[in-house]
Amino acid sequence: MAIPFVEDWDLVQTLGEGAYGEVQLAVNRKTDEAVAVKIVDMKRAADCPENIKKEICINKMLSHANIVKFYGHRKEGNIQYLFLEYCRGGELFDRIEPDVGMPEHEAQKFFQQLIAGVEYLHGLGITHRDIKPENLLLDDRDHLKISDFGLATVFRHNGRERLLNKMCGTLPYVAAELIRLRNFHAEPVDVWSCGIVLTAMLAGELPWDQPNDACQEYCDWKESKHYLNPWKKIDAAPLALLCKMLTEVPSARITIPDIKKDRWFNKSLKIGVKRNRTASGGSAETSEVLSKHIRSDADFSHHSRSDEKTKYSSSQPEPRTASPAWDSSCSHIDSLVQGKGISFSQPACPENMLLNSQLLGTPGASQNPWQRLVKRMTRFFTNVDADHSYNNLKDTCEKMGYVWKKCCANQVTLSTTDRRNNKLIFKVNLVEMEEKILLDFRLSKGDGLEFKRHFLKIKKRLENIVVNQKVVVPVT
Ligand code: ADE
Repeated sequence: MAIPFVEDWDLVQTLGEGAYGEVQLAVNRKTDEAVAVKIVDMKRAADCPENIKKEICINKMLSHANIVKFYGHRKEGNIQYLFLEYCRGGELFDRIEPDVGMPEHEAQKFFQQLIAGVEYLHGLGITHRDIKPENLLLDDRDHLKISDFGLATVFRHNGRERLLNKMCGTLPYVAAELIRLRNFHAEPVDVWSCGIVLTAMLAGELPWDQPNDACQEYCDWKESKHYLNPWKKIDAAPLALLCKMLTEVPSARITIPDIKKDRWFNKSLKIGVKRNRTASGGSAETSEVLSKHIRSDADFSHHSRSDEKTKYSSSQPEPRTASPAWDSSCSHIDSLVQGKGISFSQPACPENMLLNSQLLGTPGASQNPWQRLVKRMTRFFTNVDADHSYNNLKDTCEKMGYVWKKCCANQVTLSTTDRRNNKLIFKVNLVEMEEKILLDFRLSKGDGLEFKRHFLKIKKRLENIVVNQKVVVPVT
């Protein structure tokens, strides 16, 4: 599909979906340049124009190695197009093995890059408010990039800080004070969510549904029961840092400057050295315990304070609410970041969407399709033809109790509920490639770690048609 109004660019693949609309991969037919295009349908939510304006405005302020680059935007009718750096390494999420995590040195490297990005944002007076592995992307060199500024806001302007009061984010990642207090500082909330991301990277699970006293796992954490999962899988040095990051009282929580001085943060970790404490091998017992921890944020709304507007993570198809004046408009910082009527943060070209010069430096610029590799774990090739692949998948999924819906010739939607009774919806694309069939699974709604567990179960059931290889495929 071509992008309307833009010559030579094709939308070749859906990279992600959410309440806002979707993110597509756009590739230039002539040059092979690749960009991500966030397509926002303003009709979907009445307050959308304000939200998207703010997202654009904040994006224009940003330029950092650990933040997804913003190239420009364009409005056509009711659709806003945001042109963003394409991160071909996919989501950090895909590097986390459920119940295990990833090697400690990798987690440390990603964590250092995450902290560098968050430090930069906070220095500008911006808080992301929805830090989670799904919003952390990787480029072709595995450099972490913070993405999706749909919930971001300004908390410091002209040197004056304001407290926040909105419930905002994704429940397992939100800080305790967000549930407990009317007003709270912005920075410690992002620090907390970075702590949850670090936990997920080191243990492959989220520690609790939400950080309040109604949640047993959170009470256990406050009582320092580190012999329980996920903490028992985590080595003493990173665990000591997590204790400081997941401290309930925000004023006592570690700050970014002190995280940067932490022993584990600065520890030189040997590649390939086994972690001191390993996961308990994915036993049935472990899985049972873990199921209590992992949930989607689908019912976040039940926990919101009644006198406040609640903002939802854009990855969830929940309504997005209007925001009060200070929060909803970027007009007060407009003059800092943009000239009136100019759509691009870089020199605009009136005829074309983007000048090639605007894309110089994007990784796709010098690459052919076979060099544009994506690394995703939720896909595999089959050793049978398209019909057999489809029928095998359908039989297996129906036997496993999924609701099967064919969307179009090569896409199906599977729905179920996860172990916590939360909705889980994902899509499977069947793509013919090099005379083989690729089954590509994508989460539409629900918890990402649960999605991966389901993917692995389906793959196991289909093992006699799965081609066992490390799947690294071109994006076209
Ligand atoms: N998914 C959402 N945004 C993306 C981006 N910029 N690059 C790759 N995948 C994405």
